[in-house]
Amino acid sequence: MGSHRVIVTGAAGFIGSHVCEALLARGDSVLGYDSFDPFYDRALKERNLAEVRDTAERSGTEFMFVEADLCDAPAFASALADGRATGVIHLAAKAGVRPSIEDPAGYVRANVLGTQVVLSEASRHGCDRVVCASSSSVYGNNEKTPFSEDDPVEHPISPYAATKRACELVGDTHHHLTGLPVSMLRFFTVFGPRQRPDLAIGLFLRKVGSGEPIRMFGDGSTSRDYTFIDDIVAGVLAAYDKTPDFGYRVWNLGGDHPTKLSELIDTVGAVTGRDPIVHKEPMQAGDVERTWADQTRSHAELGYKPTTSIREGIERQWAWMTQHA
Ligand SMILES: NC(=O)c1ccc[n+]([C@@H]2O[C@H](COP(=O)([O-])OP(=O)(O)OC[C@H]3O[C@@H](n4cnc5c(N)ncnc54)[C@H](O)[C@@H]3O)[C@@H](O)[C@H]2O)c1
Repeated sequence: MGSHRVIVTGAAGFIGSHVCEALLARGDSVLGYDSFDPFYDRALKERNLAEVRDTAERSGTEFMFVEADLCDAPAFASALADGRATGVIHLAAKAGVRPSIEDPAGYVRANVLGTQVVLSEASRHGCDRVVCASSSSVYGNNEKTPFSEDDPVEHPISPYAATKRACELVGDTHHHLTGLPVSMLRFFTVFGPRQRPDLAIGLFLRKVGSGEPIRMFGDGSTSRDYTFIDDIVAGVLAAYDKTPDFGYRVWNLGGDHPTKLSELIDTVGAVTGRDPIVHKEPMQAGDVERTWADQTRSHAELGYKPTTSIREGIERQWAWMTQHA
């Protein structure tokens, strides 16, 4: 698209930093916004931002960064005050299922209040679209697979999932009242370089690669539709470009098929060249049995088609981790 000013919230995070780079590479000016939430090490986020700044320099495109909390509405309003932003890609959130059980109020504040601030200020400052990160976790323990956007999502099973579903409702209502085009992207477990340190693939690669045992929750039969970061980024940019055509829309962005946890662990072993030492533990509260995205809608409306296999993605993540150890 090029020559737009896009605000990316959560810009210092895993997905946000990749989205910033892709926007810069195609010529969009970017204002990154992030509070450095202490969920994981600030140094990792600083490293992500350094890579974004390098990309901005290489592509000769403008990158600005504001460190502030989204729940501070006046601070977010100041980022929009010059009227240059066309739209917002809202990726900031407290992420992670298990920690949300310990801190549900913190998740509601950051995720739901944060999303409402983004929507209200985007409208007040003349943006023409907002794209938000939702999550496959909204499908809860639905048994019908693959999960499609019109399936019932009334029973999230963790506070995190409930906040993501609440954000979808807040976005729908905001669109109804103001006409602002809003889309919600249901990401399915994202992996690849810079993956959040709490997530399974990076965690397993680190431990198996150094000969340490890993914890496997459940009997290995749970499955996830793992999605490589480059595929997610392509979907986010397509959604950003198309959102004004749709009013309010939900899109699944997944991989291509589910992978069982036991198969994932075998692949990690094959990629690292080490036999995983697995300690079996009971399933954790809040974890769903399965995820699998029906991509009929995102393919038809966004041209979304993931191309990276789980094996290739894990190899690329491992290569990146060994370079950045
Ligand atoms: N990674 C996945 O597998 C996955 C799956 C489904 C949905 N998502 C969603 O995608 C988005 C990005 O996830 P990620 O994996 O890159 O996580 P991340 O934690 O790496 O990035 C999120 C960023 O948001 C920032 N943030 C948190 N609260 C904030 C606040 N109040 N104000 C400003 N910034 C704040 C954090 O500092 C962090 O840098 C999140 O909304 C997450 O819920 C991720």
